Amino acid sequence: MVDDSTGRIVADLRAWVAQAPPGARVPSSRALVARYGASPVTVQKALRALGALGLVESRPGVGTFVRAARAVRPPDYSWQTGALRAPHARIPTLATPMRAGAPDGVGLHAGYPARELLPERLVRAALVRAARRDAALVRADAAGLPELRAWFAHELAATAPAGVVPPAPRDVVVVPGSQSGLSSVFRALVGHGRPLLMESPGYWGAILAAAQSGAQVVPVPSGPDGPDPDDLARAFAETGARLLYAQPTYANPTGAQWSPARAREVLDVVRAHGAFLVEDDWAHDLGIDTAPQPLAAHDDAGHVVYLRSLTKSVSPSVRVAAVVARGPVRDRVLADRGAESMYVSGLLQAAALDVVTQPAWRTHLRGLRPQLRARRDLLVASLAEHAPDAHLDHVPRGGLNLWARLPDATDLDRLARDCAAAGMTIAPGTEWFPAEPAGPFVRLNYAGPDPDRFPDAARAIGAALAAQRDR
Ligand SMILES: Cc1ncc(COP(=O)(O)O)c(C=O)c1O
Repeated sequence: MVDDSTGRIVADLRAWVAQAPPGARVPSSRALVARYGASPVTVQKALRALGALGLVESRPGVGTFVRAARAVRPPDYSWQTGALRAPHARIPTLATPMRAGAPDGVGLHAGYPARELLPERLVRAALVRAARRDAALVRADAAGLPELRAWFAHELAATAPAGVVPPAPRDVVVVPGSQSGLSSVFRALVGHGRPLLMESPGYWGAILAAAQSGAQVVPVPSGPDGPDPDDLARAFAETGARLLYAQPTYANPTGAQWSPARAREVLDVVRAHGAFLVEDDWAHDLGIDTAPQPLAAHDDAGHVVYLRSLTKSVSPSVRVAAVVARGPVRDRVLADRGAESMYVSGLLQAAALDVVTQPAWRTHLRGLRPQLRARRDLLVASLAEHAPDAHLDHVPRGGLNLWARLPDATDLDRLARDCAAAGMTIAPGTEWFPAEPAGPFVRLNYAGPDPDRFPDAARAIGAALAAQRDR
């Protein structure tokens, strides 16, 4: 295993090897121990890792040397072009938010909170306890651990108004992250060549999952108040679509939260068209100024398919989420899960359940709010001071991101390159639009990077924008 300090040494030595001539001698282990202030074991691990990468070779008793690049005939994969043919949709192998940022840079592009915002002690203790349980050794139920399904159902039921029949544990299907749940829902409920309505801008991963399923994405404009019910009704009527994918709470990327009145109107349109609303409640635990009120709690007729993830709030490594779907639609989703991956690791489910049922979990969530607020406000203030051309339509009341509109003529690729040169990784907004972007935008994550670097990051963005303006 490569730990953090080994990783740092490997990254540094890789950069050195890249510019060193073949056969150059790598500094001695003793010199490396002194240079990095690391233990000899760590240095040896790093050298072994570089050896495994084929970058250096060690000659016992002599030292370690940069490996000469061997001229080899490149393999010929051209036959695959004929076998694979053109894809039905061009799907990038790695979306910008999933790319690694520079090791010492500021990663404003990624979609996850910083480690210090996670309940680290709870997660570690839960994983240890889960390892001792049967869940570590037996196959889990296809729909998920019964206790975890009950927890997801009860959480949603707690916000259901009087008169609405609350969801039951049987309505819950546990999935390994809501990305996987989205793919299942789109495959099971829409299918190849059929229309799927989606807010625009909307979550890049949903756009990709829809494209991969072969669905025809129909964008519906959406702003801080959500989609206009008339636009939505027209889109349903014109396309014959039977499903809308939406994020009513702290939408990624805009941070929008629909008002209760708008939520009711949208649900009415969905009902009137005999359709499904896939409610992606990805940021349920990430409220700052408001509390999320899932729309799904207001529907007991099976129109809302609800996705609830724990990966941003428990741990990105405990990939556990739930699809809550009522009626035959639940069986369709479960059938897709069976074909896709049979069941979710019981170990991870047991650990997730352990975390969310500890009294300290609630305390953790209460403590998260002020931390997210401080980070959000600092990035907003830094942009206002150093990058006034990055305009914020509104300040999100929860979630992880700011969504900034840039001047019309902004060249986003150039902006990303200029920011990268200053050590900042940004995510140009293009990937959040299912069709042509409505303008140049950038999504900036305030929950992941070190807030002490926000002023520098805003300065870099401001300078890069100013350079484009002055061209
Ligand atoms: C809106 C939205 N939905 C779903 C996901 C996928 O989350 P996960 O698969 O980690 O549960 C994300 C991740 O960033 C997201 O932003």
